[in-house]
Amino acid sequence: MAGTADFIWMNGKIVAWKDAAIHVTAEALLRGASVFEGMRAYWNEDERELYIFRNKEHLRRLRQSMHIMRLAIPYTDDDFTAAFIELFRANRFTEGVHFRPVAYFGVGEAHAWEPKDIETGAFVMAYARPPAPSLKGIRSCVSTWRRNSDNASPSRVKAAANYHNARLAQVEAKLNGFGPPIMLNDQGEVSESPGACFMMVRDGRVITPPVSADILEGITRESLIDLYRAELGVEVVERDIDRTELYIADEAFFCGSGAEVQPIVEIDHYKVGDGRPGPLTTKIQNLYFDIAKGRVAKYRHWLTPVYGDRKP
Ligand SMILES: Cc1ncc(COP(=O)(O)O)c(C=O)c1O
Repeated sequence: MAGTADFIWMNGKIVAWKDAAIHVTAEALLRGASVFEGMRAYWNEDERELYIFRNKEHLRRLRQSMHIMRLAIPYTDDDFTAAFIELFRANRFTEGVHFRPVAYFGVGEAHAWEPKDIETGAFVMAYARPPAPSLKGIRSCVSTWRRNSDNASPSRVKAAANYHNARLAQVEAKLNGFGPPIMLNDQGEVSESPGACFMMVRDGRVITPPVSADILEGITRESLIDLYRAELGVEVVERDIDRTELYIADEAFFCGSGAEVQPIVEIDHYKVGDGRPGPLTTKIQNLYFDIAKGRVAKYRHWLTPVYGDRKP
């Protein structure tokens, strides 16, 4: 089975992968009542070091998701960071890692949120997943499914339940022969893909939907906006994007911890630009990987080393 490892961190302990279980009556299972982060750590072979990408920012977003859900767990950000490091060392990872801290509602009264009425907990699953720079680009489409709206099931909360919406869109696109689709929000403006944020280039400017467009406030998105401005001298505009703008974009790509930087070369059978990943996409893709792997001193503060002086 893909995506497994020897150990999982669960409620303060390292346990064997097969023993990390939650009861079937848990709210997390019955109603998708959990929030999570999808994160990556990148392996630097020269230094034999594993670097967690933007740990602090991911943990902050996890807190925000918990806060909105009124989900309290007895672990601090430092506890989580220590858990990641302990887990990666236990699994002896020496390649790229994808991992997911999850905070959940367990067994208790239905719809409860107070600890006296319901158990809560947390776990961290991690598995080897080397970076996969997408060089050729994917064919996308506009989904017939609308992105979750903020007043219904907020996309800003990285809740497991939001991924029912994502699954509907993803499967439909796949059955129709496309890669990940672009989802519009209830206003009919571009939102994001089922699992990544969206950016496009028109006339030398990068354009991406604002955080109020029913998107997850992507940490990769934020990182790339900063890098375009600070390192590549490229203007970035956060504004609504109409559907037909997709068909006349010069470049387009998805970005996220899972997707990394994924060029889009076709949308609804319209070629994006000349049908190949464009220059501003490729440049930011290269810079992203260089930084994530610890090759750019200026951005080392975005990274958290796992092994330190205990090299594997
Ligand atoms: C729905 C959705 N939007 C956007 C993103 C991108 O967010 P981030 O860059 O923080 O991983 C993700 C996850 O990667 C996601 O699942």
